[in-house]
Amino acid sequence: MKIILHFGINFHLLVDQHNFLDLYCINWRNNLYNQMVNLFQNYQNMIMNIIKFQIKLLMICNLFQMQIYIISKQIKIPNQYKIIFCQGGASLLFEAIPMNLMKTQHSSISYTNTGYWSSKALEEAQKFCQNVNIATNIAQDEFGKRFIPELEQWNINKEDSYLHYCDNETVEGLEYQFIPKFSSVPIVTDMSSNFLTKPLDWSKLDLVYAHAQKNIGIAGSTLMIIKPELINNHQNIPYMWDFKEMIKKQSLISNLPIFPIYVNTLVFDWIKKQGTLDFWDQYCKKRSQQLYKIIDNSHGVYINQVKKEQRSRINITFTLKDEIETNKFIELCKNNNIIEVKGHRAIGGCRICLYLPIPQIGIDKLSLIMEDFMN
Ligand SMILES: Cc1ncc(COP(=O)(O)O)c(C=O)c1O
Repeated sequence: MKIILHFGINFHLLVDQHNFLDLYCINWRNNLYNQMVNLFQNYQNMIMNIIKFQIKLLMICNLFQMQIYIISKQIKIPNQYKIIFCQGGASLLFEAIPMNLMKTQHSSISYTNTGYWSSKALEEAQKFCQNVNIATNIAQDEFGKRFIPELEQWNINKEDSYLHYCDNETVEGLEYQFIPKFSSVPIVTDMSSNFLTKPLDWSKLDLVYAHAQKNIGIAGSTLMIIKPELINNHQNIPYMWDFKEMIKKQSLISNLPIFPIYVNTLVFDWIKKQGTLDFWDQYCKKRSQQLYKIIDNSHGVYINQVKKEQRSRINITFTLKDEIETNKFIELCKNNNIIEVKGHRAIGGCRICLYLPIPQIGIDKLSLIMEDFMN
């Protein structure tokens, strides 16, 4: 039986296709997909119960508790951190982080500028803070490969309220191999595209955030893991941006999107059942290597523009000779039911997003097509 959602997406179609779009963790493995379908099939029992106002808060509370339990176990978060769920995507946190974390209204904060999303975060911070220091910019070597400069070349002010960086630059396909820790400056990182894909060193991290729609579910809630002592609410922060309120009310600061929260719980559970973060790290390395190997052996048919050591395990980017070749490749993929391989509009080319629930079968199929195209 085919389930057609209100917004017209046919889930069977989605499952038959291999969709490498940046936004979709929703390339469901069968078991996840079946649980979603069950939810719709049990519409009367489940959804109606979920949306009934009387029990909604309790239900969300339980789902949050379940997620917090799973996440804490999976990533071994030390006790002093709080786990918060908020709305507005990672973009809301681009604004809320400076509002909540600046020590005083005149304090300085540091941002990296190593790709599309870190520069967006930087732009938002500049609207709120007059003293934003750029710790480092993205660099290019003599072959045009992008890379993050060595820490010794960064410019950090010991007095900064925090340093913000984006651990995996989704658009460029560039991933940090280190945590840029400087003396006692708190470290804030956007892990929207690589959250739960590798172990984290909590001795160096003070705030980690990630939206759901890539590795951990569907859009609707964003997760933040924060050391509460970092918060400096020195001024009147609007309620929906206020971290203290979020912590006090255990994330329940307004009506929340129950369905995405439910789906995230399924995905968290699935991720945990598959293995530890070390397992996922190896898994991501292996899968990305499969594609990088084809790129590197393609004699220039596909060119990756990132320095080898900093290539992302999650977002694999490459260009072809020109736009005609790029369109031909995208068309070939489409004809083989592989969709959304076009690169982000900011840099063009192609991009393959390997978020955790994306099935291996799609990557194998894509590999064959890439090899086919070369020949
Ligand atoms: C690393 C990163 N940060 C932030 C964002 C923006 O996320 P949102 O749409 O949830 O605001 C994206 C979007 O793709 C992203 O990849």
